[in-house]
Amino acid sequence: PTARLTLDPAFRIGSVDRRLFGSFVEHMGRCVYTGVYEPDHPAADEDGFRTDVLDLVRELGVTVVRYPGGNFVSNYRWEDGVGPREARPRRLDLAWRSVESNAFGLNEFMAWAGKAGVEPMMAVNLGTRGTAEALDLLEYTNHPSGTTLSDLRRSHGVDKPHDVRMWCLGNELDGPWQMGHKTAHEYGRIAAETARAMKRFDPSLQLVACGSSNAHIDTFASWEATVLEHTYDFVDFVSLHAYYEPVGGDVDSFLASAAGMDRMITAVTATADHVGAKLRSDKRIKLSFDEWNVWYQSRFAGEHALDWRPAPELIEDVYDVTDAVVVGSLLITLLRHADRVGAACQAQLANVIAPIMTRPQGPAWRQTIFHPFARTARHARGTVLRVEPDSPVVDTARYGEVPALWATATHDEESGEVVLFAVHRGRGEPLTLTADLRAFPAARVREHLLLHDADTTAANTAEQPDRVRPRPVAGTRADGGALTVELPPVSWTMIRLA
Ligand code: AHR
Repeated sequence: PTARLTLDPAFRIGSVDRRLFGSFVEHMGRCVYTGVYEPDHPAADEDGFRTDVLDLVRELGVTVVRYPGGNFVSNYRWEDGVGPREARPRRLDLAWRSVESNAFGLNEFMAWAGKAGVEPMMAVNLGTRGTAEALDLLEYTNHPSGTTLSDLRRSHGVDKPHDVRMWCLGNELDGPWQMGHKTAHEYGRIAAETARAMKRFDPSLQLVACGSSNAHIDTFASWEATVLEHTYDFVDFVSLHAYYEPVGGDVDSFLASAAGMDRMITAVTATADHVGAKLRSDKRIKLSFDEWNVWYQSRFAGEHALDWRPAPELIEDVYDVTDAVVVGSLLITLLRHADRVGAACQAQLANVIAPIMTRPQGPAWRQTIFHPFARTARHARGTVLRVEPDSPVVDTARYGEVPALWATATHDEESGEVVLFAVHRGRGEPLTLTADLRAFPAARVREHLLLHDADTTAANTAEQPDRVRPRPVAGTRADGGALTVELPPVSWTMIRLA
């Protein structure tokens, strides 16, 4: 089978917002404790941060990190995590039925973010708390000095304000599992009033209203419509969350997960624009896909019903080759919607459904899904080109017929580099892809990487941390204004041209 596409800078979707390559650190399982923070680890620095993990975070190319939850934030008191460590309370975390020591809190996260070179994205608790506590947190975090809360921060050794730009107004409050679960009307009101007050403090803050926790929940789309009717004038983003897995062993549909993400983005964009039209508003709400990943929820059903322990092992998915290909295809979808998706966070960063795994007192390593993320984050720059592949289809139970080839391309006007990202999500024959390069007649192949393995269940472990990784493909040439490559079934490909 063959597929074709054309790369032409005349057809553009939008600029690549660096915030598309975000991640998420939640106080959940071992993401914080023994993930990013483990003071007695041999590789810990003076702040207790694991430098082996910091190195991997930088290599992953993460740009923005959402914190501190997730479900955790909806029963969190931010005050517990600041000030002298010995005075910080131990609390029950009802979201994950764990014990929270509060050894790591706001200022530790900001120091860690500085070392990792990432922008912090904060979430406030609109579950068990409300506008007043969110404003207190904002004042403590962002106000320079001269008030009780800003001076409290300074007394905690942080002289300069953190100046956090992007704030999530709660987390998944549509979900009945959420502490402080609300109706769309209840949430819309508290989100609007909190946002209005936060913008009185600083109108340039970027605020995210909670959209639905997934596209299958009964209230999907009507939740967004009601929430945005309340919040439209005060927020900049609406959030999307989605996790994918092979439901009932249906691997073909799983490989087509990007079709689900694509439809969700289209649906939320349409809903937001419908509200904008009703309100006669010229403003366009952007999308923050601030939780996405592969997550085998079926493997971990009921896992959070644990005894009360600090940092239990929770949802530590081990990812294989198929999962990495799906993650690569989800990144392609985010790029294909670069005109509306302004931020996205893979959930989560370490140990908990994460690209980075660690052992307490032991090594840190890259899961399979690390690789397509790292390469896309590093090389997708400039403008996303509109590529419309012509491809054979795969028939799936969940999404109907989807193109076997899922692709996008970016063009960096500064460096002149054009990068093609392509996934073959069929499981049968290889696909011969021809890219028409008539608009880039002088382009030469700088790098051709392929992530593929005859054993699609191969994974990386502490013992074999590099079992699965992208490998260079030699000899690929762009001749006569065209490039022809073979895409093996279940594979992710990146080709850099300049
Ligand atoms: O990322 C794990 C959990 O998934 C988050 O806490 C929650 O927001 C979502 O349901």
